[in-house]
Amino acid sequence: MTIHQEIPLGLRNLKLTPLEAEIDRGTPEREGPPVTLMIDGVTITVPEGTSIMRAASLADRQIPKLCASDNVEAWGSCRLCLVEIEGVKGTPSSCTTPVREGMRVTTQNARLERLRKGVMELYISDHPLDCLTCPTNGDCELQDMAGVVGLREVRYGMDGDNHFDAAHKVPIDVSNPYFQYDASKCIVCSLCVRACEEVQGTFALTIEGRGFESRVSPGILSDDFFSSDCVSCGACVQACPTATLVEKSIVEHGTPRREVITTCAYCGVGCAFKAEMQGEEIVRMTPWKNGGANEGHSCVKGRFAFGYATHKDRVLTPMVREKITDPWRPVDWEEAIGFAARRLLEIRDEHGAGAIGGITSSRCTNEEVYVVQKMIRAAFGNNNVDTCARVCHSPTGYGLKTTLGTSAGTQDFKSVDKSDVILVIGANPTDAHPVFGSRMKKRLRQGAKLIVADPRRIDLVRSPHVRAEHHLQLRPGTNVALMNALAHVIVTEGLVNEAFVAERCDMTEFERWRGFVAEERNSPEALSEILGVPADELRAAARLYATGGNAAIYYGLGVTEHSQGSTMVMAMANLAMATGNIGHDGVGINPLRGQNNVQGSCDMGSFPHEFTGYRHVSDKEVRSTFEADWGVTLDAEPGLRIPNMFASALDGSFRGLYVQGEDIAQSDPNTRHVTAALKALDLLIVQDLFLNETALYAHVFLPGTSFLEKDGTFTNAERRINRVRPVMREQQGMSEWETVCRISEAMGYPMTYENEAEIMDEIARLTPTFALVSHARLDAEGSMQWPVNEAHPDGSPIMHVDGFVRGKGRFMVTEYVPTEERANRRFPLILTTGRILSQYNVGAQTRRTENSLWHPEDSLEIHPFDAEERGVADGDLVAITSRVGQTTLRAMVSERMPQGVVYTTFHHPFSGANVITTDYSDWATNCPEFKVTAVQVMPTNRPSAWQEEYTQTAPGSRRIHTATAAE
Ligand code: SF4
Ligand code: SF4
Ligand code: SF4
Ligand code: FES
Repeated sequence: MTIHQEIPLGLRNLKLTPLEAEIDRGTPEREGPPVTLMIDGVTITVPEGTSIMRAASLADRQIPKLCASDNVEAWGSCRLCLVEIEGVKGTPSSCTTPVREGMRVTTQNARLERLRKGVMELYISDHPLDCLTCPTNGDCELQDMAGVVGLREVRYGMDGDNHFDAAHKVPIDVSNPYFQYDASKCIVCSLCVRACEEVQGTFALTIEGRGFESRVSPGILSDDFFSSDCVSCGACVQACPTATLVEKSIVEHGTPRREVITTCAYCGVGCAFKAEMQGEEIVRMTPWKNGGANEGHSCVKGRFAFGYATHKDRVLTPMVREKITDPWRPVDWEEAIGFAARRLLEIRDEHGAGAIGGITSSRCTNEEVYVVQKMIRAAFGNNNVDTCARVCHSPTGYGLKTTLGTSAGTQDFKSVDKSDVILVIGANPTDAHPVFGSRMKKRLRQGAKLIVADPRRIDLVRSPHVRAEHHLQLRPGTNVALMNALAHVIVTEGLVNEAFVAERCDMTEFERWRGFVAEERNSPEALSEILGVPADELRAAARLYATGGNAAIYYGLGVTEHSQGSTMVMAMANLAMATGNIGHDGVGINPLRGQNNVQGSCDMGSFPHEFTGYRHVSDKEVRSTFEADWGVTLDAEPGLRIPNMFASALDGSFRGLYVQGEDIAQSDPNTRHVTAALKALDLLIVQDLFLNETALYAHVFLPGTSFLEKDGTFTNAERRINRVRPVMREQQGMSEWETVCRISEAMGYPMTYENEAEIMDEIARLTPTFALVSHARLDAEGSMQWPVNEAHPDGSPIMHVDGFVRGKGRFMVTEYVPTEERANRRFPLILTTGRILSQYNVGAQTRRTENSLWHPEDSLEIHPFDAEERGVADGDLVAITSRVGQTTLRAMVSERMPQGVVYTTFHHPFSGANVITTDYSDWATNCPEFKVTAVQVMPTNRPSAWQEEYTQTAPGSRRIHTATAAE
């Protein structure tokens, strides 16, 4: 492993490559006709509306500034950026003055120098002069600007007593676990307020008071940051030009010494970060401006919740045991790998190749996932490989491939900036994909119209300066009926884009679909009762989607995790095709992928029926390409899916499982069924950072690496292949791909790579959509969106531009079939599940950070009427019982819920959310129906039987080991 891309901090903003350079040009980019002007004798042409400050920066003249940044609109408060303009009186501020044709601007002369010094004198006279002991000494714009303007003396005194510090004794606000606010250092530039409004879209901050009494305040109703509306994204901290808002890690450790550019390992947005380091210790994660997915923004998880990587719970030594009731025995890598390989071979010899298999992880890199599926196909000798996408986005793969021809979203994130109508279905972007959520909210504040289809009133429906035009509060499980109702309006009211359909789609399939959705039974009036949404509202939403300009669909697990998940994906594709909303900016159909590398793990051939690039294992030509490259004969039959693995484990035909970085005992539905299957195995190999719930049933534990130790790539929800670079050595001594290669070798099939780049070279060689991808290219040119091949050498931000990947777009008839999971008198409520901003999935990472302060436990959201009917008050313990199990949570009475529907997150294993979810799944892909479980909720005063069992087994079984070599 090589440590990449170390950029000594002293070189920032100087002679870096275009990939590395991060220059703040002071004000945002504009689009418009060209305007030519002269700045300090240099002629430059920029778009109309550009500020003089930005134009000067583009002409390589950096004008001093304090209150301007190119991610927020100019404010013009500091007056440091004064310039002279020929023929114009006075010295206007360059950040607020737009360019004009023929303008002649001077940015530097004796007069401007004098004025700027005067401004800085005023600031410094009211600023504590503790630079030498200040946490951001050497990394402070105020300090930098004092140097830039040549400040040597301050006429108004330099006693260093700031008004807040001396007179008011405003205490430092340390309530947020990750950053602090010290009012004494504030220059009231408002950058933080504007970053919170314009970049993050939370509007948590305000400036209160006037003149010398002015100070930043986290809202009128809150005393401190922690109790305010702040979501801890850190945008204000990053924007602050002084040490007023500063990371606690910087206060504790000092400023960083080097930085490495890498990618967040949480969600499918795929934000790029600079990991800023002191030696091998991270002192700050700063979102990288050149990151294609996030453009310098982040959420609380990516920016702050990285401490799990060095948490004391991490297991750094391989361990084995004969039986799951035995204590773990720490061993060296050689013994662990030998043990795993020998047991796999024994099972294969005794029970046949079909008795072993593996599950890949969307938390791992493309390269790590690729070697696992290769090991299973080539060394295990079967296609028994599946991935965690089975339980989240497998219907996306099926639905989009069937209709459009490829298993991926159609747009880049930037595309939303051009949307006029945004339809969000079964997704909660501000919690689950926060950085994209902020981008979407920005577009909505600019005037795009919003339709939300969700049983729950998610934040997007009503948040500061954002209000959904339509909130279609449909009943869980009725998504397909909703799409059919919208399609009915589009077809019967003459809103089909006939020209687009005629040119781009299969007309026979279209006519069949048109006839189907036009049937009266698919009208809003006929479906209104099933949906629980008024027919008028359905009609209005359909008209808005079809006629409101560029209309884009964004969706999440509220679409896929249903018994009709695949049907629903096809129904959305139908709608986009019928209205011509596909193939250009601002439109499309976009899955908001859950985990960081869900797209990648699917791309890498993790499904039992597909090689890399979604090519079927039964395709002889494709298979022979792999056989020739890998030098082995491959099985032409698809292997077992995860649910089939569990079923076969229970019937005794499947006996050995390798699990890469997934906690299936917590994340998969019907926990008792899953754990029974795991208990039935002869061999379970778990590779992970922590002893998770699944490891309770494991015989081999192989310590994994955190993203900070990985070298490779993640592919985000927009098909963007991002580089993941190691910022520290592997804590447990071996990279994950190498572990896999060594198991494979011990089983008789050597896989030899010098490094991760070689694995990517093999992927590119064997995968047409990755043909021109290499680590060297990604390092030199930045991230790329697949396909990256001869036809699209620089990648493909938008797909299906001139035609669909499958040729003609295929309309599919999407009959609404209600799920078999029904509410009745015994189970009258429907439980649906989702995520919260501060935690992530099963919580293995975020629960080991201070993010837990925001969400220490899962709770059950319930409508006030349903709560009252059951005698449940806010905060009461309630028992939630489904047809398969029972668990206990605290009630949160909430009007966000419609009557008849309850909701919980699933971030804490003790909550046992999946103890109650059922075995129902998508008809095409077996994606579990997490979103619809009929339940009863009743007050209780004790944990469920399952939770008591959990508590009893937890202390002993989850301990790292109870016997050591010495014992
Ligand atoms: S951390 Fe983010 S949400 Fe909180 S105040 Fe700062 S910008 Fe606003
Ligand atoms: S806290 Fe920082 S960014 Fe906000 S007004 Fe004060 S100095 Fe400016
Ligand atoms: S939005 Fe997703 S990728 Fe970006 S920082 Fe947050 S968790 Fe990480
Ligand atoms: S940077 Fe222009 S007024 Fe502050």
